[in-house]
Amino acid sequence: AFARPFGVFSTRSGLKMSATTTDEVVVIPTTPIEGMRPGTSGLRKKVEVWQEKHYVENFIQSLIDTAVDSNGGKMLDTIVVAGDGRYYNDEAIQTISNICAANGIANIWIPQGGIMSTPAVSAVIRRRTESGGGEDGEGIAQGGIVLTASHNPGGPGEDFGIKYNEGLGQPADEKFTDTLYQKTLEIASYKTVADSPDIDLNAPVGTKYQLTPTSAVTIIDPFQNYLDALKSCFDFDQLRKFGSSGFSILFDGMHGAGGQFAKRVLVEELGLPESSLMRCNPLPDFGKCHPDPNLTYASELVKKMGLKSDGSADASTDASTLPMLGAANDGDGDRNLIAGAGFFVTPSDSMALICDNYEAIPQFAATGLNGVARSMPSSAALDVVAEARNIPCFVTPTGWKFFGNLMSSKESFDGKDYTPFICGEESFGTGSDHVREKDGLWAVLAWMSILSKANEGVSEGEALVGVEEIVTKHWAKYGRHFYCRYDYEGVDSDAANQVMDIIRDNLVNGDASSVESGDADIKFVDAVEFGYTDPVDGSETSKQGLILNFELGPSGDPARVVFRLSGTGSAGATIRMYLEQYEKDTSKHGISAPVALKDLADEALRLVQMEKTTGREAPTVIT
Ligand code: G6P
Ligand code: ZN
Repeated sequence: AFARPFGVFSTRSGLKMSATTTDEVVVIPTTPIEGMRPGTSGLRKKVEVWQEKHYVENFIQSLIDTAVDSNGGKMLDTIVVAGDGRYYNDEAIQTISNICAANGIANIWIPQGGIMSTPAVSAVIRRRTESGGGEDGEGIAQGGIVLTASHNPGGPGEDFGIKYNEGLGQPADEKFTDTLYQKTLEIASYKTVADSPDIDLNAPVGTKYQLTPTSAVTIIDPFQNYLDALKSCFDFDQLRKFGSSGFSILFDGMHGAGGQFAKRVLVEELGLPESSLMRCNPLPDFGKCHPDPNLTYASELVKKMGLKSDGSADASTDASTLPMLGAANDGDGDRNLIAGAGFFVTPSDSMALICDNYEAIPQFAATGLNGVARSMPSSAALDVVAEARNIPCFVTPTGWKFFGNLMSSKESFDGKDYTPFICGEESFGTGSDHVREKDGLWAVLAWMSILSKANEGVSEGEALVGVEEIVTKHWAKYGRHFYCRYDYEGVDSDAANQVMDIIRDNLVNGDASSVESGDADIKFVDAVEFGYTDPVDGSETSKQGLILNFELGPSGDPARVVFRLSGTGSAGATIRMYLEQYEKDTSKHGISAPVALKDLADEALRLVQMEKTTGREAPTVIT
């Protein structure tokens, strides 16, 4: 490819020069490549795999063919292509643009810089849908190709990924990804553009690159649509005021795509000081960190919030010097970690708290909530609030796409409207129906709004109400769901499947009464394999996790352990064990979760024969 200046023109300056059409659509023969089945959230592979000959091309051609199928056989007019900025982002954008153009997609929108967070991509697709067209008046985005491997590390030897979002801004559903996979097994050729111009990702907004006589790339503003979406949820004036009256925050962008959005919102819009931000410049290798906002990988922030890696307060720090709110986002800005001064909030609790305090968020203040949902492995803290407040609560399989259906029930299925809607997952995902992805920054502003409301009556000079006080009061009212997760990463796939089979054979299908208890206070009750029938489209999803139910002595309180294999890894298998235990007794709420759950964990590991089957004495990570 070479730069071809006369193929480039700017709509801003009004300068229009006709592109000379040396453009040539070429058809390149190829053969199927194994292993392109997308997981929970797109296809993730090592960078080196994506760099293999025809790899990106085969996948994208299959993706476009699938999108055309689901568009009633018609070629898409407009598509967004954006990534989280990880290594290989810029090259892939160029390759993908060429294939999109050669296939006849008329408008290819690329954010300036090539980087957008996942929720921002969803906002572009949705906002342009709502306003009936782009700022250049050229159609409505019918989908987005998002280049991300989310919270997986980036750089040479690490992960790169591609996922597709459909016309309402939601991740592609199972039917789409199954069809896509089939097409990757049958592909014989792909189309691309020979001699296409090099796209300068830093060109001014509005710059156009004519790739073929009928297809052009337009550089768009990465922020505007997303900012509009957030402004429709929160009261920015109110937050700005709160920001200058005692509130303080430390936001860790983990060098991912969320950083520049946090800077735009927190600093430029809400007037908070630059020192509120850390690691907010996107880097291709995320500064060699693992961009997953949990207690282990966000260790620097965790420390700066006066916490230890198990989530308990570090007694050696002076809590009065700590920021009021601590938050981190993952590589593509859709996950979030929330903490107060010396106080960690589990994602399941965060969701329950946001639900119980929805009046503090303008988005819900007027109409209330018509629905909430959580993924099955998340704790039942949400269910308890939903029941008390009489809000329909759904329990779905892991994966944001299941929430998408519920949120779009009316707009795409003419069904019952569950919006306004709040949903979330234990895996540090929280969000609402303002977009169709989880949204790390939305969660931060939701918490800032809750804090702002809680401090409304506090007069100057008085101590502000913090995160810890809000959460402990919540527990006192509803009881606490102790929660944590053990991850066994890089386990041999056969061994991982064997663990799941042992659970099925002995605990799900076996006789519960014959299961011998290893701890008198932890009684095994029964086990089930979770399956889901989507209430909106009736689709069925099976084998979504194994649930072991327990009863604790002497209180009789329920406890639960869930086993599930991760769907987002790129090599080997990861076994996840999710632990949850309900505690009504306020005097016990102060214990740290991993300590409170240790006996339950040991009993579950014994029952499923973890060490014997996998050789693992301890988990890789506890979050
Ligand atoms: C991605 C999805 C989430 C999902 C998570 C599960 O982040 O966007 O919706 O909860 O993956 O990951 P796992 O590795 O547990 O399959
Ligand atoms: Zn992510």
